[in-house]
Order: sequence, then C-alpha cells, then structure tokens
Amino acid sequence: MIIITGTPGTGKTSVAEELAKLTKRSVVHLNDYIKKNLDVEYDPAYESYSVDTKLLEDLDFGDAIVEGHLAHFIKRSEMTVVLRCDPRELAKRLENRGWSERKIAENVVAEILDVISAEANGMDVDTTNTTPVECAKKIMNGHPDEVDWMKKYSSCLSPNDVETLKKIKSNKC
Ligand SMILES: Nc1ncnc2c1ncn2[C@@H]1O[C@H](COP(=O)(O)OP(=O)(O)OP(=O)(O)O)[C@@H](O)[C@H]1O
Ligand SMILES: [Mg+2]
Repeated sequence: MIIITGTPGTGKTSVAEELAKLTKRSVVHLNDYIKKNLDVEYDPAYESYSVDTKLLEDLDFGDAIVEGHLAHFIKRSEMTVVLRCDPRELAKRLENRGWSERKIAENVVAEILDVISAEANGMDVDTTNTTPVECAKKIMNGHPDEVDWMKKYSSCLSPNDVETLKKIKSNKC
C-alpha cells in the first residue's frame, strides 16, 4: 500500500488519482471505506466523524493507494506520503468548500504545527503552487520537500485558532 495522508484540503484525493494513473494502481478513499464498513458517529461539536483509529491499524488493501487524513494509522505501508500546503493557501482551499471559520482555523493551525506529519513520519510533499500530476511524479521519484511553516507563521500563532487564521489572512505574519 502507498499511504497518502495530510490535513484536509492538502490535495490527497487529487494527487492519489494522478498517482493511480501513473502507476496503474487502484485508489481506496479511506473515508468512504470507513463510513461504509466501520462504526462511526458524527460529532457535531467537532463537525466531523469520530473513528476509533485502532480499527484501522490492520487494514490491508494490497498494492492500492490509500488516501485519507487517517490513512497513516494503517500499519502496513510501502511508502507513506504526507501532503502539505502553505497555511495561507490552505485557508483559501477550505473556504471554497464553505466550511465554518472554526473548522478552517483548526485545520490551518494543525497544518502549521505539523500535526499529521509528526504522527505519520512519512515523506512530505508540498502541494502549494504546483499541480497534482507534478506531486504524483515527485512521489514516484521519491523526492520529498522541506516544509517549515513555523518559520513563516509562528508569529501568527495565538491561543485562539480563529485569531490565528485572521492574522494569516491579513498577511500580518
Ligand atoms: N498540487 C496540488 N495537488 C493536489 N491538489 C491541489 C494541488 N493544487 C491545488 N489543489 C487543489 O486543492 C483542493 C483540495 O484537494 P483535494 O480535495 O484533493 O484535497 P483532500 O486532501 O483530498 O481533502 P479532504 O481531506 O478534505 O478529502 C482541490 O481543489 C485541488 O484541485
Ligand atoms: Mg479528499
């Protein structure tokens, strides 16, 4: 399995589809699989589904590309890719989906703090200012990107995620 994970909006579904074309592998959209096959509950407080990630550990989809923000909880993997996106650009991508300000802010802050990258311990690939097909080629060539959003945005961090988002959007950091 090639695991493609990352903060929501970083480009997992788009890149997985391009990588599937280049490698002739199939794609498993893990969130769809989870909703169909596992016990999940919608948690209105977090505006998302809560999943027991232990149930993901032993999943095996052969040589498929498995994409989703929880995909790195699957233990067996040939390669783990963490897609990244500049937080300012990520905020725009998530706004285009009509998500609430709070949900956008939580995800943008998680991206700045490398939350998924730290959990997944994989190869970072930056999807900012490039195309899904270029990212897929980078994965095939095994060329990781150096990502350090803290360097650029640490002065934006505030205890309140929505405040952080506002500062990022107003170019105040
Ligand atoms: N280089 C890139 N790679 C991938 N996506 C990109 C890239 N540049 C721009 N995008 C855009 O980013 C947006 C988010 O992509 P996508 O839906 O694939 O993200 P995702 O990580 O699968 O999100 P989610 O976790 O919510 O499913 C899309 O509109 C996509 O076209
Ligand atoms: Mg997706």
